[in-house]
Amino acid sequence: MNKYKILLVASIAAIIAMGLLSVSIAGKNAERDVINTSPVVKADGVESRSEVWKQHFPHQYDSWKKTSENDQIIDMLKKTPQLTILWAGYGFAKDYNAPRGHFYALQSNQNTLRTGAPVDDKTGPMPTACWACKSPDVARLIDEKGELEYFTGKWSRWGDEAVNSIGCADCHDSKTANLTISRPYLTRALEYNGVDLKTITHQDMRSLVCAQCHSEYYFKKTEWTDDDGNKKVATVVTFPWEGDLTAEEMEAYYNERFFSDWTHKISKTPMLKAQHPGYEIYKTGIHARRNVACADCHMPYKQEGAIKFSDHHIRSPLENIANTCLTCHRESEAELKEVVNRKLERKDQLNEIAMDNLAKAHLEAGKAFELGAKDGEMSSIQDDIRSAQWLWDYSIASHGSFYHAPEETLRLLSVANEKAQQARLKLVKVLAKYGAINYMAPDFSTKEKAQKLAGVPLQKLAAEKMKFKQTLLKTWTETAIANNKLDPSIREGMSDNVSYPKN
Ligand code: HEC
Ligand code: HEC
Ligand code: HEC
Ligand code: HEC
Repeated sequence: MNKYKILLVASIAAIIAMGLLSVSIAGKNAERDVINTSPVVKADGVESRSEVWKQHFPHQYDSWKKTSENDQIIDMLKKTPQLTILWAGYGFAKDYNAPRGHFYALQSNQNTLRTGAPVDDKTGPMPTACWACKSPDVARLIDEKGELEYFTGKWSRWGDEAVNSIGCADCHDSKTANLTISRPYLTRALEYNGVDLKTITHQDMRSLVCAQCHSEYYFKKTEWTDDDGNKKVATVVTFPWEGDLTAEEMEAYYNERFFSDWTHKISKTPMLKAQHPGYEIYKTGIHARRNVACADCHMPYKQEGAIKFSDHHIRSPLENIANTCLTCHRESEAELKEVVNRKLERKDQLNEIAMDNLAKAHLEAGKAFELGAKDGEMSSIQDDIRSAQWLWDYSIASHGSFYHAPEETLRLLSVANEKAQQARLKLVKVLAKYGAINYMAPDFSTKEKAQKLAGVPLQKLAAEKMKFKQTLLKTWTETAIANNKLDPSIREGMSDNVSYPKN
């Protein structure tokens, strides 16, 4: 196709898409009016049990419950063993799986080796912040106790309170059923970012409800004093959004604060862990620029009899192309799948190269230290490694980025790879100085080998976790049922898949 034809097709597509958008927005406004006259789920506070919402909104509930269909564990450390080296010394080297359906989010969080094996409400490696993107009970707890109290203490503190997986009250107001931002840290981040909250449109909300969780964040230590005068420290989920929403701006934000998530076990580098900047990366793509929202692709309209509603079965849009992409695009299903697959292949190729170079950079730096290299000789190498790994992680951590914003994803991967190469070039010199000419990093081609190099005692961690599941976790569930916080029927037939040995 020549340039003008492409332009013509693109503008026609845009016009059609905009037309469709305005029609669908008008439709949605009408539906919203209906919701506003609907019965109130809870007049005061937050109703975190999705089963209570079911009586009023059975279609949304039934489709929401279908997110339970994806309970599959894809062990990313097995698939890409380099990851274990990249995260040596950090929780992600223990256990990391591809995302599953929202229905399983809470269970994934309880099962992952990253949350450890607490024995009471004061032990374990993680703060309460780790529940933040898993459960509507977090919205309820923030409402009941205040945000700082919610963010104070260990993860295990709220084990018998955070008991419902991602549900209605994460995205909807319990009184009006309107879309709402239930997490105050997103509202604050938008404010730092210069967004005038009054200008947020309904179409924006169809992405912002997702941005509450599918965003980059860090845990910010915050000292505070409660009403009784007790001094406390909260670990508050905070979005680094005081600039443009780019990887480089966020890196500068962290660097200005000398922030690091952990110190790398092999290369001794102070590292950053990108979380899942899904919203931020999406914002750099063409669909966001054309005002296509997350919900347009992940929650399309669905017709059942006379009822039209948003399909709450959030999943890969490729499983439902007829109702997602094809509402705006003219290509065939096969053509669109092919387009998305090509984007994935391009990302995978660059990703492999970047991960490989980064893993080798860590191992070579580790060797240099072992041979006696001094901090002064290593600091610029560590700067390269820190920056390279941040950009690499930022580009791929949100899984869908290869599709949401392919150009930005590939750009970040290329820059990350270049920085990792720079580190390795410098390392050749340092290693030579200490007598290691032609040093070859050890083999990390399987999860077992990589975890050995990273010093992860998998069997021990798995055994401790299994004990936790048979003891404290059982007590949490029983307490929540007794306190009427959890309707046990919701968990009937739930699977319990994990990536590690169960005995
Ligand atoms: C309360 C936090 C939260 C909100 C709000 C949220 N998500 Fe998620 N989402 C998650 C978590 C956590 C996972 C991973 C769950 C797991 O692996 O167990 C996930 C997984 C997903 C997946 C993968 C599902 C699969 O089957 O592969 C998609 C797609 C997704 N979310 C899209 C969205 C969209 C679109 C929105 C907004 C309409 C949204 N999410 C809102 C936390 C959230
Ligand atoms: C991850 C966020 C998210 C969760 C969880 C969620 N919804 Fe929604 N819901 C949305 C979005 C986005 C829309 C589209 C709103 C619009 O455009 O007006 C929507 C629309 C609705 C509507 C308006 C009618 C329609 O179908 O468009 C109702 C009613 C509703 N949801 C009820 C529920 C119920 C009940 C649950 C729990 C079983 C639930 N929602 C869970 C995000 C969510
Ligand atoms: C134009 C359509 C479109 C829009 C808009 C969109 N997505 Fe996606 N999303 C996709 C496609 C296509 C994939 C890749 C699915 C696959 O690989 O099977 C995807 C993948 C994902 C995944 C990874 C799922 C997995 O299991 O690996 C998540 C999470 C996700 N999207 C969340 C979001 C969020 C949050 C937003 C808004 C900030 C959003 N998406 C906007 C189409 C879209
Ligand atoms: C609500 C409308 C809408 C939906 C739904 C939608 N798109 Fe788009 N898409 C657009 C618009 C608008 C553009 C930009 C056209 C332009 O300005 O050039 C676009 C651009 C594209 C492009 C060209 C840019 C690029 O990133 O390579 C591809 C490919 C594409 N869409 C694929 C998809 C696929 C696959 C899906 C389903 C997962 C999808 N779209 C869903 C409206 C939509």
